[in-house]
Amino acid sequence: MKILVTGGAGFIGSNFIRLVLNKHPDDEVVNFDKLTYAGNLDNLKDIEADPRYRFVHGDICDVEAVGNVMDGIEAIINFAAESHVDRSIGGAADFIQTDVYGTYVLLEAARRHEVGRYVQISTDEVYGSIRDGSFTEADRLQPSSPYSASKAGGDMQAMAYHATFRVPTIITRSSNNFGPYQYPEKIIPLFITNALENKKLPLYGDGANVRDWIYVTDNCEAIDLVLHRGKIGEIYNIGGGNERDNLSITRLILAALGKGEEMIERVPDRLGHDFRYSIDCSKVTELGWAPARSFEDGLRETIDWYVNNPWWWEKIKSGEFAQYYQQQYSNRSGS
Ligand code: NAD
Ligand code: DAU
Repeated sequence: MKILVTGGAGFIGSNFIRLVLNKHPDDEVVNFDKLTYAGNLDNLKDIEADPRYRFVHGDICDVEAVGNVMDGIEAIINFAAESHVDRSIGGAADFIQTDVYGTYVLLEAARRHEVGRYVQISTDEVYGSIRDGSFTEADRLQPSSPYSASKAGGDMQAMAYHATFRVPTIITRSSNNFGPYQYPEKIIPLFITNALENKKLPLYGDGANVRDWIYVTDNCEAIDLVLHRGKIGEIYNIGGGNERDNLSITRLILAALGKGEEMIERVPDRLGHDFRYSIDCSKVTELGWAPARSFEDGLRETIDWYVNNPWWWEKIKSGEFAQYYQQQYSNRSGS
């Protein structure tokens, strides 16, 4: 199968491309990515010479550029997005442009070129926060950040293109991913690398907010399964079944790195901060998927990866990220 992976230079997309090339010897992958601050070809250094892999620099909002890579494409997997909640609070224009309009451009390409499958990579955040119980795929969408609202817009377009034009869409909604190559703006890589640099760990609010964590390759395995065996027109929740509050995760990271709790800095809460995400994953489980990593093993491997690969994150943290972090931090401390 010849697959167009959009956003393949990001965290989950790059892990997905690696999985496809290793697992399916007959597959070819075209990685179409704009290389925003989050896109990084270092994520794919180990596979860039594979003859079954090709990188194309482009924007999913660019109709012509997308059309130019569609030759022979049998499936589209759309990972491309603006993905960070805090950045969407700072300004939502790029989120709406890429996550909603860019999705529409890809759906039109899928329709025109009659691709066999279109997989829209979405998020559990579209359901909003839940105090007790877990959301199923049938629950209504109640996004609370500009990021999750833009992702919900993309989902709605995918559903509409299936209903109206029979574009063979499938949506996956996963919980919080963690693992190698995650941009260090997200809590786990930020806290690991800050601890390694002897910088404070900025914990929002009281640290009681809960997320369900999934190791990135477990999500990629589920996406691969859904691509091959999922039912067209359906939505699949993909969660790790590892609900943890932020303070507990912070403590695990500090303990693993031999650092004390004085490294934690309590900072003002995120605006509109969702308290808890939880999804019911029965549908993807019935397809035959189960996560392979426990949270503790995955976290240990992730910490080891950041410890052993400073070449990857040190240049990120001293580049674009440094300015972003400075801005973020001064906003929060009110100075
Ligand atoms: P990421 O921010 O690490 O990577 C996003 C990638 O998309 C980057 O390579 C970037 O260059 C590319 N991109 C952005 N705008 C583009 C555009 N207009 N055209 C082409 N490429 C563009 O994100 P991630 O964490 O890997 O997330 C991937 C997808 O999974 C996103 O759709 C996100 O909403 C979703 N998701 C992420 C998580 C998570 O925990 N990280 C959980 C659930 C769902
Ligand atoms: O649930 C899936 C979503 O998970 C994805 O759709 C998003 O793309 C991904 O970014 C992630 O969103 P979160 O907002 O949950 O992830 P983040 O790592 O930004 O924050 C996780 C929790 O940690 C959240 O409760 C806020 C808190 N936090 C985050 C940062 C960056 C802190 O306490 N301090 C921080 O510095």
